[in-house]
Amino acid sequence: MTKEYSNLKKMYEGLKAKKLIPYKPKWGIILGSGLGDFVENLKIDSLIKFADIKGFPKTTNKAHKGRYIFTKINAENVVVMNGRIHFYEGYDAIDVVKTIRLMKLMGVENLIVTNAAGGLNKKFKPNDLMLIRDHISIFIKNPLIGENISEFGARFPDMTEVYDKKLSDKIKKASAKYKISMKEGVYVQLTGPSYESPFEVKLLAKMGADAVGMSTVMETIVARHMGMKIAGISCITNLAAGLSKGLQSDEEVLMNAKKNSNKIYKILKEVI
Ligand code: HPA
Repeated sequence: MTKEYSNLKKMYEGLKAKKLIPYKPKWGIILGSGLGDFVENLKIDSLIKFADIKGFPKTTNKAHKGRYIFTKINAENVVVMNGRIHFYEGYDAIDVVKTIRLMKLMGVENLIVTNAAGGLNKKFKPNDLMLIRDHISIFIKNPLIGENISEFGARFPDMTEVYDKKLSDKIKKASAKYKISMKEGVYVQLTGPSYESPFEVKLLAKMGADAVGMSTVMETIVARHMGMKIAGISCITNLAAGLSKGLQSDEEVLMNAKKNSNKIYKILKEVI
């Protein structure tokens, strides 16, 4: 057993012993920057702050609360990650994904990831939602580097279909039902925390990426390694650098994400 697996197991057992995990959540949802208002729709059955888990990374980003919330959506057991850990906060890749691996130990089988992203595709505009059909991970550190945790998955996991077609199609259908426009595309994660330069934006668009952000892909790689079914939604909060007249600002990112958290709730309530 690797040290990482035994540490995660200890964390899980500790939370269980304190009765903080009220049930086995089949669904996991990660709320991206500015999307935390989603939680206002929920009845909270249990709440665990990352800061209260010994050995866990702490979120340093004010826009991310850094906690797990246990709730029921349509009688299904769900754990919501209200805020995430980012690579740019200075944690090693293995620490960034502890949050996801702990969700696996809790019992999560289906994972829905959300994020705020800059639009690269010229057809996108701020406040569009984009279903993530595939991703580009080549600019970040692969979180599976290091000794393989065989309890979770294979040394060389397949990434042909990271984003589950059936689950993704359900999201498309639910958006259509509520007449919420849902674009589709490829998400590229960069490390951040600086935004891209206009030339980098041109390069990423040429590569075929449709949206750019600073999260998600590290998480979905480990989730896929562990055999979770995954779907992802990007909230296009702004056009990437050089595609609009203004400069990049986190105020704009957070303000536009906030506007969209209820749309995402509506869609996920239909899907779960
Ligand atoms: N670039 C990177 N990350 C982001 C952006 C962006 O334009 N918008 C929101 N997150």
